[in-house]
Amino acid sequence: MTSLRLGVNIDHVATIRNARGEGYPDPVRAAELALGCGADGITAHLREDRRHISDHDIAQLAELSRRRGSPLNLEMAMTPEMEAKALTCRPHAVCLVPERREEVTTEGGLDVAGQQDRLAPAVSRLRAAGIRVSLFIEPDLRQIEASRLVGADVVELHTGAWCLAVRERKVEAEARFQALKSAAFEASGRGLEVHAGHGLDYDTVGRIAALPEIAELNIGHFLIGEAIFVGLGHSIGRMRKLMDQARSTGATSEVAA
Ligand code: PXP
Repeated sequence: MTSLRLGVNIDHVATIRNARGEGYPDPVRAAELALGCGADGITAHLREDRRHISDHDIAQLAELSRRRGSPLNLEMAMTPEMEAKALTCRPHAVCLVPERREEVTTEGGLDVAGQQDRLAPAVSRLRAAGIRVSLFIEPDLRQIEASRLVGADVVELHTGAWCLAVRERKVEAEARFQALKSAAFEASGRGLEVHAGHGLDYDTVGRIAALPEIAELNIGHFLIGEAIFVGLGHSIGRMRKLMDQARSTGATSEVAA
């Protein structure tokens, strides 16, 4: 079984900072803290509209990542501007996501199958620069196969629809989980490293962490929100514990602890 890494997404520390338009709280300080208390890496999304993470944050996070030897996963849309940023700051990995200005968060996965001709050369340019390339996709066999064809190293499975269905106690929750489970199996069988993320919290993390093919979870909003009540060290520490427990003992229902 692959070991399971936790990537902590620190975007919403920057959201709080930007609410005041000043320098506090600093997402780079949050990243350092996260790495000291159970995170294996840091994830940050440089959005086209710079609503949270800034170019300066990314430069500093890349520097921190080199200094600590901890991976930085840069989430971005596949645009010429973002590609140039990635090639300049050279993160460990880039996660390509769809992006629409009006969305509140990343809604839905990347349509890899519908833009293979555009994605394949971009993936190859990033990989040639030594950057691992991850594609954020829905748990859909067509998208998995297309991700393999464009040469991605990793697929990150979008867990958002499943997490929402669990929270809202919708009947489709189980079918959505089964789609994630079979997508993890199919992607891994095609030689892709499998990550998952979006909307995960203490209640949902166990079932996903118990899937043996998953190598990394990227979690942000819940950890930063929970940190308001218990501190970032505690929220990350508890998430880490739930992930490790589920990986070693298995989790069959949403609430793992
Ligand atoms: N993975 C990807 C590709 C994302 O876009 C996000 C949200 O920025 C996450 C993981 C983390 O999602 P959340 O903040 O809901 O935990």
